[in-house]
Amino acid sequence: MTTRLTLLAAACALTLSACGGSSAPDTPDAAPSAAAPAPTGAPAAAPAPDTAPPAMAPAAAPAAMAPAADGGTPANGKPAAEVSDCGTTIEGTDAMQYSVSSIAVPASCKDFKITLKHTGKLPAAAMGHDVVISKAADMEAVDADGRAAGAEAGYVKAGDARVVAHTKLIGGGETTSMTFPVDKIKDGGPYVFFCSFPGHSALMKGSITVQ
Ligand code: CO
Repeated sequence: MTTRLTLLAAACALTLSACGGSSAPDTPDAAPSAAAPAPTGAPAAAPAPDTAPPAMAPAAAPAAMAPAADGGTPANGKPAAEVSDCGTTIEGTDAMQYSVSSIAVPASCKDFKITLKHTGKLPAAAMGHDVVISKAADMEAVDADGRAAGAEAGYVKAGDARVVAHTKLIGGGETTSMTFPVDKIKDGGPYVFFCSFPGHSALMKGSITVQ
């Protein structure tokens, strides 16, 4: 009796090993074909970091984060500006970001002062920041005209009537400010503030309201 059971067990084992043996060749075949695309993709991506200038590195980081930010809240998860004495200080970084997503101007203020502090290290030519205020509906056109006006113009077209107010363009370590009449943004909104350095308004923009 014991011998028969042992033989049955041995037969089962042979069957299992036969099955395992037949499936085994499939796995090695599949593995190389699946892995094949990876080596071709890797060399193409590898040269990019080597050839990219240092200034591109900070810009690449926010670009990679953009889908997540766009998919999230319109405020990009940043806080509202802290306002006191009819003014506020906001920051701009080497990662192409403002520190705030919105500015609420008290209706009781006659004039309002915005101070921009560039907390980065990159020069204005590579990572310049300013604050330009316009109607939200005008932002794209103001931005495009500013880009066309060029660096000498601080990327703001001279005499642009759609521009409510703007600071000068600054680089890392610099601070600038502007003061404008609150009446200018009380009607006809919504208004926005944005950076007119080419490409920056995609990430560097926020809403400015009178409350
Ligand atoms: Co900027």
